[in-house]
Amino acid sequence: MKIIIINGPNLNLLGKREPELYGSTTFETYFQELKTKYTSADLEYYQSNIEGEIIDKIQEVGFSYHGIILNAAAYTHTSIGIGDAIKAITTPVIEVHISNTFSREDFRHQSYISPNAKGIVIGFGLKSYELALQSFL
Ligand code: DQA
Repeated sequence: MKIIIINGPNLNLLGKREPELYGSTTFETYFQELKTKYTSADLEYYQSNIEGEIIDKIQEVGFSYHGIILNAAAYTHTSIGIGDAIKAITTPVIEVHISNTFSREDFRHQSYISPNAKGIVIGFGLKSYELALQSFL
């Protein structure tokens, strides 16, 4: 089963970015743990700080992969383009967030991803990605 995790802006800084909120593990370390634990999944990871690159990646994988686990980070709350890309593809998308966006500022309560996501996993720390993966498997 081909699954890709796509992370948006500033998530390349996981491990050193606001660790009280996002934890102290780098995503690369966490991703290796996931790969070791879920050997039946053909897991891939992509991160970009650039909106258009995220849209390009969604279009590239969105008609052939079995699942996309997407943390669009701040673009979740602003990007009609990413929302439209999810609407355009056939691969199901699970939206994830590390923090509980609903317990934070009002602007984080809005998501352009959710209306077209298969499901949403929010607020379980890095474990949010694993829960999304388990749902696909
Ligand atoms: C986030 C939540 C977003 O509001 C924020 O902009 C992020 C990370 C999360 O995983 O908790 O960058 O998507």
